[in-house]
Amino acid sequence: MTIQEKITQLKQQKRAVILAHIYQRPEIQDIADFVGDSLDLSQKAASATADIIVFCGVDFMAETAKILSPTKKVLIPDLAATCPMAKMITVEALRKLKAQHPGAAVVCYVNTNADIKAESDICCTSRNAVSIVNSLAEQQIIFVPDKSLGAYVAGQVPEKKFIFWEGYCPTHHRILPDYIMSLKKLHPKAITTAHPECTSAVLALADFIGSTGAIQAYVHRSADKEFIIATEEGILYTLQKSDPEKIFYHATELAVCPNMKKNTLEKVLAVLENENNEIFVEENIAAKARISIQRMLGV
Ligand code: 13P
Ligand code: SF4
Repeated sequence: MTIQEKITQLKQQKRAVILAHIYQRPEIQDIADFVGDSLDLSQKAASATADIIVFCGVDFMAETAKILSPTKKVLIPDLAATCPMAKMITVEALRKLKAQHPGAAVVCYVNTNADIKAESDICCTSRNAVSIVNSLAEQQIIFVPDKSLGAYVAGQVPEKKFIFWEGYCPTHHRILPDYIMSLKKLHPKAITTAHPECTSAVLALADFIGSTGAIQAYVHRSADKEFIIATEEGILYTLQKSDPEKIFYHATELAVCPNMKKNTLEKVLAVLENENNEIFVEENIAAKARISIQRMLGV
């Protein structure tokens, strides 16, 4: 049996579902039951009927799945697949910020650990961040931890005052404006799409800004044929699969998230076999974090 056949067989035997983020390796995207962006994946986790969720992504995503589906066993192929941006803020720092701005609403990016979500009023993803901020009555917003996404949202909601945190995605910050300008010169007909985790200098060069799922949907419905893609390289496979006749130019080969790539097919098989690498979230933190995630899903 091939490794893919073994995974499929075990998945059926154990009533497991495999959820994969768009940045996962091609062979993982191919074996997954569902591939999507952070928002899609949290919605799938919330409605999952399987007994086991194998979450192919990074730790905060698996944690979010566990918070939304506490009775399910949530497994991650590699426990070392973590997000450096999520680690850039601590609960102590967030509490201090809240004390300094008592009237402000706290919006946390989904790229945070459960304790930060528990300290926040509402969660957001890169797909819904603008709608989430618009849904709040408060005029002051503490936005953590991604200063790039925060600046993008602030530009879309100029009437509100934002307090940012100095977090950022190292992978997206490796994409430089010069790379985009050179590609634009080489491919003048190409449309530039960018993820809002990119710097504002890169976003200023983009024709379309959106989450990974929003970029995929935009490319799919576009009549254009060539696209410059300013986000992590895993999306190129997703795009080629959904729109094989279109041409994609990756902004830079440096935009590869080493954490997203830690999951492999062998590790997916191993967690299905051994049911190890289970994700647990302390219930008192999970209960508070659930409120901020469910509030987001309700918007
Ligand atoms: P989205 O899938 O929501 O666009 O997020 C990108 C990301 O960086 C996940 O780590
Ligand atoms: Fe974190 Fe950036 Fe990797 Fe996403 S791409 S998991 S934000 S480091």
